[in-house]
Amino acid sequence: MSSERADGQPSHDTVRIRSVDAEEAGQRLDELTTVLRDAVDSGSSINFLDHATDDDLAAFWRSSVEDLAAGNRVLIVADTGTQYVGTAMVVFASQQNSRHRADVAKMIVHRGYQRRGIASQLLVAIDEVALAHGRTLLMLDTETDSAGEHLYAANGWIRFGEVPGHAHSPDGTLKPTTFFYRVLEPPLTGSAP
Ligand SMILES: CC(C)(COP(=O)(O)OP(=O)(O)OC[C@H]1O[C@@H](n2cnc3c(N)ncnc32)[C@H](O)[C@@H]1OP(=O)(O)O)[C@@H](O)C(=O)NCCC(=O)NCCS
Repeated sequence: MSSERADGQPSHDTVRIRSVDAEEAGQRLDELTTVLRDAVDSGSSINFLDHATDDDLAAFWRSSVEDLAAGNRVLIVADTGTQYVGTAMVVFASQQNSRHRADVAKMIVHRGYQRRGIASQLLVAIDEVALAHGRTLLMLDTETDSAGEHLYAANGWIRFGEVPGHAHSPDGTLKPTTFFYRVLEPPLTGSAP
């Protein structure tokens, strides 16, 4: 996603969606942590509680960077050119019988950049990354009736269930979780008969 001014220069709000490698992610852990901090502070159910420290959040990203380096996941960011304002990860299932599957994790857009279609663009990139790695079944879960649930439903993901009392919000309240999946069609190859 990007926007340009009439004079052809990138606007202040230009946001580029792109994958980043482990080296870059490792160098920009602070920015990744800031995005995750914003999600926790906004009360989003994103695996952390209110009392999580920045060190806890950075430790999560450090471990994700190790997974990136090992090729077990791909990190996609929304980047203004000076800072990351969004993240999403495609986490490849490792089981022998599930090499067609991946989970989506840490879909986050910083509050200062929400409702501009950035998460929808991240979802397009997720599809592309998954297909490029031969993953045709995507899965995720999100807090019921959250912005995430609305986002996935609006982008064609299929709800397949809700589990009451599945996870705690950052403030400790137990909340239900809704589960989604998405089937991707590999692009047709070869010439038409
Ligand atoms: C969920 C989240 C990633 C959405 O990011 P975003 O960039 O604002 O989403 P988009 O602008 O692409 O929204 C696309 C559509 O999703 C739906 N949607 C997104 N946020 C919504 C909200 N807060 N309430 C209702 N619908 C919402 C709308 O249909 C929206 O289209 P519209 O703006 O034309 O109405 C963002 O709110 C966020 O980071 N939340 C905190 C972290 C989180 O909960 N992540 C999900 C965990 S699985």
